[in-house]
Amino acid sequence: MSSAAEQSDTTPAPWHIRKMTVADVNGVMEIEHRAYPFPWSEGIFRDCLRVGYGCWIVERNDEILGYGIMMAGAGEAHILNLCVKPESRGQGLGRMMLEHLINQSRRIRAQTVFLEVRPSNQTAVKLYLSAGFNELGVRKGYYPADGGREDALILARHL
Ligand SMILES: CC(C)(COP(=O)(O)OP(=O)(O)OC[C@H]1O[C@@H](n2cnc3c(N)ncnc32)[C@H](O)[C@@H]1OP(=O)(O)O)[C@@H](O)C(=O)NCCC(=O)NCCS
Repeated sequence: MSSAAEQSDTTPAPWHIRKMTVADVNGVMEIEHRAYPFPWSEGIFRDCLRVGYGCWIVERNDEILGYGIMMAGAGEAHILNLCVKPESRGQGLGRMMLEHLINQSRRIRAQTVFLEVRPSNQTAVKLYLSAGFNELGVRKGYYPADGGREDALILARHL
C-alpha cells in the first residue's frame, strides 16, 4: 500500500491506494458517470474484479477519490481505466495511480505497458507522455463519440 505524508491534527488525512472490492463498485460508478460521456457499465467493473484484473482505489478517509484498472499477462500490461473524481483532480492523484499501475506491471515482470486514449483528452495525453509513454499508432474509430466515432491513440511505455 502506498501512503502520503504523515497525518497530523492540522494536515488532511493521507490518501492511500488499496485493492478495489465489489463493495466499492457503487462509489466507483458514481465517479465513472461524472467522468466520462460514455461510461463503463457496472457489469464491466464487476467482470474486471471477477477475472482478477488489477483493480485499485485511491481513497482518503474512506472516500473513493479515484481508481485504476489494469489487465496483465504474457509480458504485457494494459491500463484499461484511470480516473480521478472531478473535485480531486490536479492534486497529483492521477499521476500517483498511474505510477502505481506501472509499479504493479514491473512486479509481474511485464515488459511493456499499453493504453488507449482519446486524442481529444489532452489532460490525459499530457499525463501519459510526461510519464514516459510514447505513441505507437492509432486505432481508427475505436471510441464512441457524439455524432460518430473517435480514434484512439495507442501509447506504450517500455519497462
Ligand atoms: C486524466 C486524469 C486521471 C488526471 O488526473 P489528475 O489527478 O487530475 O492528474 P494529476 O493531478 O496527477 O496531474 C498529472 C498530469 O496531468 C496533466 N494535467 C492535469 N490536469 C491538467 C489540466 N487541467 N490541463 C492539462 N493537463 C493537465 C499534467 O501533465 C499533470 O502533470 P503536472 O501536474 O506535472 O503538470 C483525470 O483528469 C481524469 O480522471 N479524467 C477523466 C477520466 C479520463 O479521461 N481518464 C483517462 C482515460 S485514458
